[in-house]
Amino acid sequence: MSDVNDFIAGLPKAELHLHIEGALEPEMMFALAQRNGVALPYADVEAIRAAYSFTRLQDFLDLYYRGMSVLLTEADFYDLTLAYLRRVAQDNVRHTEIFFDPQGHTGRGLAFETALNGISRALADGEAELGITSHIILCFLRHLPAEEAMATLDQALPHRDRIVGVGLDSSEQGHPPAKFKAVFDKARAAGFLTVAHAGEEGPPEYIWSALDDLQVLRIDHGVRALEDPDLMLELARRKMPLTVCPLSNLRLCVVDDMTAHPLKMMLDRGLVVTVNSDDPAYFGGYVNDNYYAVRQALALSDEELALIARNSFGASFLDEATKAKYIAEVDAYVASTGRSVAS
Ligand code: HPA
Ligand code: ZN
Repeated sequence: MSDVNDFIAGLPKAELHLHIEGALEPEMMFALAQRNGVALPYADVEAIRAAYSFTRLQDFLDLYYRGMSVLLTEADFYDLTLAYLRRVAQDNVRHTEIFFDPQGHTGRGLAFETALNGISRALADGEAELGITSHIILCFLRHLPAEEAMATLDQALPHRDRIVGVGLDSSEQGHPPAKFKAVFDKARAAGFLTVAHAGEEGPPEYIWSALDDLQVLRIDHGVRALEDPDLMLELARRKMPLTVCPLSNLRLCVVDDMTAHPLKMMLDRGLVVTVNSDDPAYFGGYVNDNYYAVRQALALSDEELALIARNSFGASFLDEATKAKYIAEVDAYVASTGRSVAS
């Protein structure tokens, strides 16, 4: 590993855009299929990896929903989540905000609580073992009717203490954020914080809609904001965090080449950019791999890398004192490397 990648490896960071079902590595998919007696349409782990060749978001989603069919019990969600935490502890992730897709599970007959209980128990044990703090964010599947999202929100209400917020994922095109305005109104009234995927494949109008109709606190992806100068100004004015996922964008052909990724331009225009892995088991890398990829392709400086790490804590749903504690860890780390990086 090069010296500059050592710098990334040691940077304390938060991951704010991670679908836990997208952390299901082929090895675990196979093991859980055997444990649960689920048939998979793949001969072996290599065949699973070979299938991960995507030209657009929907190609990935089709395999992502198929992959999650092996997740049946609370223990499965527990094992999946603890494996993710142990993996990202190596990347010096100090805090993570994990998405889960309850409708991907209740639609297969699982109880709403099965996934939530397994994930939250692993997060508690992971914090004790690894010191990584965490939050859980429930995502609604936007390709399904708003009424089903509303019913899912109702299922979540008794668990408000374990779910910090709600988001919106799955097939973006044709499913604008406005479709879920009433759901998000009710979620905010119940005390949930809100985020939404927008401007991944969908147009800049969807980012406007996430801001105005859903009143989100972060935009997930948002890379198509570059197409709308007024939107860029508004995102900067609002200091709206964007959870950017470079390897995901590359693997889903949102960008043709990492050197064409808009992340550096977004930073240069003053946007609050963070770097995340999205679905690391499917897109070829965990969070540090995403930092390495953009550093190399876009020639990011140490200052920019440290800023992205600070942003990751600043944009989190931690309380202000804890954010400040983690940001001070970034500053202390940078100072300890002897690099001169302005805050
Ligand atoms: N976009 C939309 N839906 C998703 C994604 C994504 O990147 N990952 C998992 N569900
Ligand atoms: Zn995502």
